Amino acid sequence: MKKTKVIAIMNEKGGCAKTTTATALAYVLSKQGKKTVLIDFDGQANSTLLMGVKNPNTLEVTISTLLNCIIAEEPLPALESYLVKTNCGVDLIPSNSQLFSLERNLAGVDFREYMLREYVDTIKNQYDYAIIDCMPQVGTPMVNAMMCADSLIVPTQAEILSAQGLQELVKHYAKIKRAGNPELEIEGILITMDNKNTIVSNQIKEMIDSTYGGKLLVFETRIPRTIKVAEAAMYGQTICEYMPNNKAAIAYQNFVKELTL
Ligand SMILES: Nc1ncnc2c1ncn2[C@@H]1O[C@H](COP(=O)(O)OP(=O)(O)OP(=O)(O)O)[C@@H](O)[C@H]1O
Ligand SMILES: [Mg+2]
Repeated sequence: MKKTKVIAIMNEKGGCAKTTTATALAYVLSKQGKKTVLIDFDGQANSTLLMGVKNPNTLEVTISTLLNCIIAEEPLPALESYLVKTNCGVDLIPSNSQLFSLERNLAGVDFREYMLREYVDTIKNQYDYAIIDCMPQVGTPMVNAMMCADSLIVPTQAEILSAQGLQELVKHYAKIKRAGNPELEIEGILITMDNKNTIVSNQIKEMIDSTYGGKLLVFETRIPRTIKVAEAAMYGQTICEYMPNNKAAIAYQNFVKELTL
């Protein structure tokens, strides 16, 4: 039995590279020989697409189906029947647009904050790492991810307003840590889509340090902006697989080293 580390990639702000980071992290860990499952916890199914699944909406079983089983206290289908074994070695729990109903399905359910945790507990001992790609919104699903995770990685665009927007997330984190998951840690803030040598880029770390009194770790590695990330997505691949020598792929490798998991 493995002791699994569950890492949620979270930021309620949209488009800050959560999915790019979650898929790259899962890929790099898997290439290092760590058994890794990536859980797509977003109805947009971007991680599912990036892992090479062409039509998520045709999938019979997704994270949404599984959570609905947990909610209804029904038995789960066998893992082999729905787990997607991707070409790059990562195991994927896929998602599709049905997950957009999750908030509604959770309404009025007893212990509704624990549904994702209950599901992940059923698979996690087979893995070294479970990476959760979260949706860009605050609500019960986000609380579910915080209740389930050991730690959070928060990708943030190299922009002042994005960095200031972290306040809400940090507030939620503090509350969950006090009230429900005392083990939860913020692993750190990962600066993404960085334009090297711009004023903003060079000052963003100081800005985060001064806003949060140095309490939030900002990773030294910043992920540079490059059009190749979008190009990789077009081919249903993470940048690390599509172009391993690209500057963003190398940065993701360095980021994983820095994580010292
Ligand atoms: N380093 C980068 N350089 C250039 N473009 C990037 C980079 N990282 C991400 N992007 C692009 O930015 C967009 C948003 O990235 P991504 O989907 O990873 O963000 P997200 O936080 O998961 O978004 P959402 O909140 O919608 O789930 C995508 O089009 C992606 O290709
Ligand atoms: Mg995403």
